[in-house]
Amino acid sequence: MLHLLQFLFLCLELSWIVHQCDAGHPTKPAQYQQLPSLREQASIEQAWRAERIAGIPALLRKYNVDAWLMIQREHAEDTIWWSIKNATAFDSHRRTVVLFHTNSSTTTGLSNPIVWVDNTDQVWPELRSTFEEHDFSRIVLNTDRNIAFAGGLHVGEYETLAEELGEMWMKRTVNEPMLAIEYVATRLDGYLPYYRKMQETVWAMLEEGFSHRVVRPGITSTEDLSWWFREKIQERNLTTWNQPRISVLVEDSYPGWEGTDDVIQEGDILHIDFGITAMGLNTDTQHMAYVLRTDQDLPEASAPQSLKDGLKKANRMQDIVLSNMKPGVTGNQVLQQSLDQMRSEGIEGQIFCHPIGDWGHDAGAVIGFLNLPEYVPVVGELPLFPNTYYSIELYAYHFVEERNETIRFRIEENAHWNKDTQSWQFVRGRQEKYHLIDKRKTFAGSLLVQSP
Ligand SMILES: *[C@@H]1O[C@H](CO)[C@@H](O)[C@H](O)[C@H]1NC(C)=O
Ligand SMILES: *[C@@H]1O[C@H](CO)[C@@H](O)[C@H](O)[C@H]1NC(C)=O
Ligand SMILES: *[C@@H]1O[C@H](CO)[C@@H](O)[C@H](O)[C@H]1NC(C)=O
Ligand SMILES: *[C@@H]1O[C@H](CO)[C@@H](O)[C@H](O)[C@H]1NC(C)=O
Repeated sequence: MLHLLQFLFLCLELSWIVHQCDAGHPTKPAQYQQLPSLREQASIEQAWRAERIAGIPALLRKYNVDAWLMIQREHAEDTIWWSIKNATAFDSHRRTVVLFHTNSSTTTGLSNPIVWVDNTDQVWPELRSTFEEHDFSRIVLNTDRNIAFAGGLHVGEYETLAEELGEMWMKRTVNEPMLAIEYVATRLDGYLPYYRKMQETVWAMLEEGFSHRVVRPGITSTEDLSWWFREKIQERNLTTWNQPRISVLVEDSYPGWEGTDDVIQEGDILHIDFGITAMGLNTDTQHMAYVLRTDQDLPEASAPQSLKDGLKKANRMQDIVLSNMKPGVTGNQVLQQSLDQMRSEGIEGQIFCHPIGDWGHDAGAVIGFLNLPEYVPVVGELPLFPNTYYSIELYAYHFVEERNETIRFRIEENAHWNKDTQSWQFVRGRQEKYHLIDKRKTFAGSLLVQSP
């Protein structure tokens, strides 16, 4: 007992141990977290933006280029626009030209970036004279054919630019996808406290949504529950980047983008894939729930053992992937090492992890794809950057004796880069126990949802 108390005490007191505690299933129910007012959020986001773009000159030097040019029209923004815009900007205006350069001298009064907002073609002579003055020799344009973050220059803008700059300058333009990838993928220390709040809110929604408070077996459908999550996100003044997808898991089916449309019954294994968006950050989580059977001689008090074993296998896969994730190695290397290790431990399953941050599917190395389980061209060949967040997404196959079925145990949690331990760690632990829907539990103020 003393040991337990000491351990709990240490968990509370020492931040490095708190990180260790983050490795497992959170011990306390999640509480909905309040984010600052929109006005305060904007000022925080604006400070983050300043910190991020202040790093661009050094990034240009790292990739041995002199300038980074983005040209876009309102409603046809470059992908990078969303990662450099002011907090209160919702679009680019007219034609917006943004030029980052390596000259961060503050004495000259030269801003970085130089921004033109124009609809008169006045920008072109000014842009040419800026080029002449600085004699840039390598100018990055976002023209990559494979990587969205480095390929956001619209073709009409490219053609206009080529005409206006002429051959001499166009010969000095280069495609350097790693610049955009590293810029977008890099997370700031200041994000983490807010990201933790977002993750706790995600768990609070999961714990509420997958309870008898919301789900009535035999009445509520997966589709009803999916819309409950949408409304809940709205009620919490958050948004999302994808439709919450809820499925009843059965053998031989992979309800991916659609979820299923079933009336939820006792004995069902439920699965959700959903995320929220706030303050320029995104989450992506998959959890599983079990609907207890109350209609038998010995009503269930927990999920059947085989389901617990299946989840444990998926947890083991998470450990394997995290242990193989090292900065500098490629996504495909992490994938191969993890698959080898799984095989040596007799685990079958699939891995498909991705960076997360400015976007739900963010810039950087991908570790497997659902349709490319062993090797991913291009984005699998990228190196992992530290200071990125990763969504550890995977499933383990496990035979469920009670059902005579092999089920995919699908889970996903978000991990951040921990500078102290030099490793990726889950932001708010991970699912090791099922959310249980128990018909016998009653709640005051039921939030029962029903089909329209
Ligand atoms: C952000 O706002 C400042 C101040 O209004 C402006 O000078 C700058 O050009 C804006 N940045 C972008 C990328 O539009
Ligand atoms: C930065 O730009 C200013 C103004 O064009 C120029 O005078 C200065 O020499 C530049 N500094 C560097 C380090 O290139
Ligand atoms: C959402 O925003 C509205 C309007 O500002 C506010 O009244 C409400 O309390 C907020 N809800 C939550 C859960 O924060
Ligand atoms: C289990 O499923 C397999 C394949 O679907 C079937 O051949 C077998 O008869 C089933 N076993 C039982 C005990 O139902």
